[in-house]
Amino acid sequence: MSFLEIARKRYSVRDFKDIPVEKEKILQVLEAARIAPSAVNYQPWHFIVITDETMKNKVAEAYARDWFKKAPVIIVACGDHSKSWKRKDGKDHCDIDVAIAVDHITLAAADLGLGTCWVCAFDADKCHETLGLPDNLEVVALIPMGYPASDRGVKEKNRKSIEDIVTWK
Ligand SMILES: Cc1cc2nc3c(=O)[nH]c(=O)nc-3n(C[C@H](O)[C@H](O)[C@H](O)COP(=O)(O)O)c2cc1C
Repeated sequence: MSFLEIARKRYSVRDFKDIPVEKEKILQVLEAARIAPSAVNYQPWHFIVITDETMKNKVAEAYARDWFKKAPVIIVACGDHSKSWKRKDGKDHCDIDVAIAVDHITLAAADLGLGTCWVCAFDADKCHETLGLPDNLEVVALIPMGYPASDRGVKEKNRKSIEDIVTWK
């Protein structure tokens, strides 16, 4: 599949088959995150892979949606503010770096026939506490992952047009 085909294939999956994801595939998806670019190559990220049901249910208290709990895997993408690059004006690039790595994850997953969904509307304090994270680590996104319950194929995406989002000068 070409890159554009994978990007078109990826969509937010919120219904998963009740089957586990092979460890090999989880590792392939994490490898895609590992090789992502980051500001000054500081790689200020850490990923917590949750497959244990008890832990999953605890984390799901920070994002109370039934579909979320049903994902066989939840990848918790954390940014490490003690390691991220700060520009001279103080701008912290942590979120940008983690977002790039997470996008690598979602696209690699799509390439392997897996479904994912970015989740950011979670209770950040609760999630941080549940996972017992140190202050320098921030949970940037939760990524539920599994085999999509149905094959919806490739649909046209509801997106702005090129004319709306691009200025040529
Ligand atoms: C940064 C970010 C945060 C998001 N947070 C959530 C979320 O908390 N819950 C959810 O169901 N979807 C969430 N989404 C998914 C978006 O709603 C979805 O990507 C968008 O509607 C486009 O649809 P598509 O992913 O199917 O192409 C998030 C997406 C991004 C990029």
